[in-house]
Amino acid sequence: MRAISRRRALLLGGLGAAATVAGGAGLWWTATSRFSPEAGGGFTEPEVLRSIDGQLKVRLEASPVSVPLGGLQATILGYNGSVPGPTLRVRGGDTLQIELVNNLGVPTNLHVHGLHVSPQGNGDNVFVTVRPGQSFSYEHRLSADHPPGTYWYHPHHHGMVADQVSAGLFGAIIVDEEDAPAVSRERILVISDLTLDGTGALAEATPMDRMLGREGQLVLVNGHSNPELSARPGERERWRIVNTCVARYLRLRLEGKQWELLGIDLARLPAPQMVDELLLAPGNRADVLVTAGEGVSALRSTYYNRGSMAGMMGPAARRGDAGGAGDLVLATFSVSGNPATAPPAPPTSARPAPEDLRTAVVAARRQLTLATGMGRGMGMGMMEFTINGRTFDPDRTNTVVAAGTVEEWTLLNPSPMDHPFHLHVWPMQVVEEAGTATDSVTWRDVVNIPANGQVKVRVSFTGFTGRSVYHCHILDHEDQGMMGVIDVR
Ligand code: C2O
Ligand code: CU
Ligand code: CU
Repeated sequence: MRAISRRRALLLGGLGAAATVAGGAGLWWTATSRFSPEAGGGFTEPEVLRSIDGQLKVRLEASPVSVPLGGLQATILGYNGSVPGPTLRVRGGDTLQIELVNNLGVPTNLHVHGLHVSPQGNGDNVFVTVRPGQSFSYEHRLSADHPPGTYWYHPHHHGMVADQVSAGLFGAIIVDEEDAPAVSRERILVISDLTLDGTGALAEATPMDRMLGREGQLVLVNGHSNPELSARPGERERWRIVNTCVARYLRLRLEGKQWELLGIDLARLPAPQMVDELLLAPGNRADVLVTAGEGVSALRSTYYNRGSMAGMMGPAARRGDAGGAGDLVLATFSVSGNPATAPPAPPTSARPAPEDLRTAVVAARRQLTLATGMGRGMGMGMMEFTINGRTFDPDRTNTVVAAGTVEEWTLLNPSPMDHPFHLHVWPMQVVEEAGTATDSVTWRDVVNIPANGQVKVRVSFTGFTGRSVYHCHILDHEDQGMMGVIDVR
């Protein structure tokens, strides 16, 4: 199916206009849609746009969308009329061209989260601003050896990121591998959350939401509340799970089942790992295999304590933790019918060992301290979110790195809540957590730094030069300045 038609684009121009184009997925809506946004609706996936002959050229139009959600006619935002936006599927060596069209009333831009591509010019340049009514053509050239994995795209216009992402502006990017495991089917599960007010408009974040990081009242999988995924006994599925939530940590369990973990964020592990639980900080992705056994199991997100601001802010902040929600059912996995023959198990030893920087020559060591504290004024609006004592300034470079070198960064969090640390362009290898050396090769592009904790990472600044950013992926914190500029030259 092709990207949005002009006719549909026009329809979406008016808020609340009924969407009348059939087809699509996720929250791509029609009056006669068979998908219910209420619990138990069918599982759908966003449209997939694949590269052909090394090229994927897409047009992504950010616009208001009107969809029934949570018993209301909701007015949210989407790319090409759909929430999530289309899934972009490419391979190493491909060129990804995205024309971003801004039909919002405010500035925006587009970041390709996790991709190892140039941050300059019309590459993955977060300093670009696309004004209302304007468009911008991005071009990303993936190297032939780009790590396969599950990535995603979202706006990155400083100050508006949390509002725009929570409103529905996100989509998945998949970089396929050559030797994908044989599966009965592959699914993408893009998880998001949002809160609507009584009229179906997006609820405005309160000062408390901005301080703790907002968690939406509705948690959706591909735009649906508790969809049902069906399979036959014996089938093996591959699930790519993306946490696009602004601040919600997903601690996922699939009742009565184990996952075979293929990887988190980028690349694949040398061999799949059996796990009961997946912890995805905001921005993280998981790539897992699930083998279907007869019965019904809930995909749950269980409570994760990500700290609080209690004790720092006076009575207003003492109402509890940042992560308010307890146990949530995100989706239901129903397995019934005639048993299927499972595809052969994925090879366990065929993959090359991933690059390991633990023995690399380290050219520089740095400390980055993510802190929350009172600004010069009083009251919650005056909270400051800083890295090494500074809030983000696009004109200031905080960190200069020599291209081609390996650095070790100690990420410190003296604050009473977790901060998921994200670096653009160059992935991080976790080498030490809470003072203990990591005993496996762990690559991430979002690394959680627990409250009052610290993590050491190593980064190889190869491939590209230019200015980019690192920041807390609790996007409310990023918008309030917990972000720094890095220049690799
Ligand atoms: Cu997912 Cu700088 O972003
Ligand atoms: Cu990113
Ligand atoms: Cu943070």
